Amino acid sequence: MQMTDAAPLLAVEDLSVDYHDRRGAKFRAVEGVSFEIARGETLGLVGESGSGKSTIGKAILGLVPAAGGRLRFDGEDITRCSARRRRQLTAEIQVVFQDPYGSLNPVRSIGSTLAEPLNVHGPKLATGEVRARVAEALRLVSLSPDVAERLPGEFSGGQRQRIAIARALVLRPRLIVCDEAVSSLDLSVQAQVLNLLEDFRDQLGVSYLFITHDLGVVHHIASRLAVLYRGRLVEMDATDRIWDRPQHPYTAMLQAAAPVPDPRLQAERRAAFSLRHSAFLAAQAPTEASRV
Ligand SMILES: Nc1ncnc2c1ncn2[C@@H]1O[C@H](COP(=O)(O)OP(=O)(O)O)[C@@H](O)[C@H]1O
Ligand SMILES: [Mg+2]
Repeated sequence: MQMTDAAPLLAVEDLSVDYHDRRGAKFRAVEGVSFEIARGETLGLVGESGSGKSTIGKAILGLVPAAGGRLRFDGEDITRCSARRRRQLTAEIQVVFQDPYGSLNPVRSIGSTLAEPLNVHGPKLATGEVRARVAEALRLVSLSPDVAERLPGEFSGGQRQRIAIARALVLRPRLIVCDEAVSSLDLSVQAQVLNLLEDFRDQLGVSYLFITHDLGVVHHIASRLAVLYRGRLVEMDATDRIWDRPQHPYTAMLQAAAPVPDPRLQAERRAAFSLRHSAFLAAQAPTEASRV
């Protein structure tokens, strides 16, 4: 297949995803979503809880099937690829979840946790090479190679999230889906982890789909934002443009909800928001319950 560097690394085209309840009734969680991520780009995917963000991430990771539309990775149609191809893609598309404690096995040493993806999905490597790759990944997230001997419980939340990121990096992926990856961290630790992720983008050329409900977090790291509302994209543009002048009332609501260090600024922003968009909020209120 002919590929050029100008082609996006990931293209999501008109993606829809359905869930089915026990009686087989269909619920469409994602409807007609399209976006692209360029090489070395961070696209922020924002929306409130339940808007379908994780579902889009899961579809990209092959964890839920697409009911409609197409996923292209590096020009290749991966929408319905074979299980074997999907396993190979694990080395190229990785994920970091919100809760590093839940995603790290508490009785497994950090070294063994980081070696696992290499042993399962990586190229055949000698034991010494695996150890070197694990040490390299730990160094990238500013942890000493000595931590390989230790267990997740010995680390703080921020350190555990660095370990989860090291695990995602060990295969040298080209795309990392970060699903609320810093949402459970304190603001200062959040900033450190965001800086690390930015460094990898520059050093390793990795791209991110950065999923969060918190517009405040993503506005520093993403060059473009896609705003998801009830399974559909309502706005997509350069982050600065959206931040300065949100077009959709729902985006303005997310912005008003984002924590800012200055309480006065926050109060002003929330007041301005409710003046401009109270009609939108009023219209939304009753429909929320009817959805479930
Ligand atoms: N496994 C599932 N089965 C049925 N419904 C689901 C499942 N996972 C998510 N949903 C529903 O799909 C919608 C989108 O969920 P999700 O993608 O997790 O949203 P977000 O990550 O934005 O919070 C929600 O209404 C959620 O309840
Ligand atoms: Mg989610």
